[in-house]
Amino acid sequence: MRQPERVVVAESGAMAREAAALVDRAIRTQPDLVLALPTGNTPVGMYTELVRLHRETGTDWGGVTVFNLDEYLGVAPDHPESYAAYMQQHLYRHVNVPPSRQHIPNGLADDPDREVARYEAAIEAAGGVDLAVLGIGTNGHIGFNEPAQELIAPTHVATLTEETWQRNFPHLVEAHRADQLSARPFRQAYTMGVGSILQARHIILLASGSDKRAAIARAFQGPVTTQVPASLLQLHPRVTLVLDEAAA
Ligand code: PGA
Repeated sequence: MRQPERVVVAESGAMAREAAALVDRAIRTQPDLVLALPTGNTPVGMYTELVRLHRETGTDWGGVTVFNLDEYLGVAPDHPESYAAYMQQHLYRHVNVPPSRQHIPNGLADDPDREVARYEAAIEAAGGVDLAVLGIGTNGHIGFNEPAQELIAPTHVATLTEETWQRNFPHLVEAHRADQLSARPFRQAYTMGVGSILQARHIILLASGSDKRAAIARAFQGPVTTQVPASLLQLHPRVTLVLDEAAA
């Protein structure tokens, strides 16, 4: 089995630059690259750096196709907490990915089963993912594939664990405790499954900060287990970990 390549840098700014350099180089090498891209806090600096490289060195995103890893169910693309809005804010407003090549599950789709089938078919029609960039949850999740007895391979609707929900929506936790939320928003999301992720030809996983250290150790130094979804990446022949020292 091949060990993942590990790139360990001093801090999160260097992680962002390293990750962006890998993505930027992949686009320059293969102008029709198909990317799977993450959201969350970890990749924000990578997007900033990719935008800078686009502006200063002219990296052309005109032939690039992007699939997002996930999106919240029941959330409109223009909702400020949607991942569609996140991608607009951090990437699409600043680089020239044609809108027809910006793919993300439709949080408002009428029929979730049809939506997941549509998304998988779109990935296949694009020729599969060349490069997937992932974050990792403190519980070892990738996308919204949460620790569980069983994992679902293709794109599907997932339920966030309490831990993930509280990390992603700290501003809603108080209202929830005080029973002020009638229905809890953002508890379900579309996510690419571990199967769709493992089909990517190259996977880059980013982690920064000491709160990710245990998850990285469990994922890459422990057994392969569905209880640590990122550990399934041990089965992939080409994984690059870009970590800062605190996470490594
Ligand atoms: P974070 O999320 O970057 O906001 O820590 C990572 C993840 O949950 O995959």
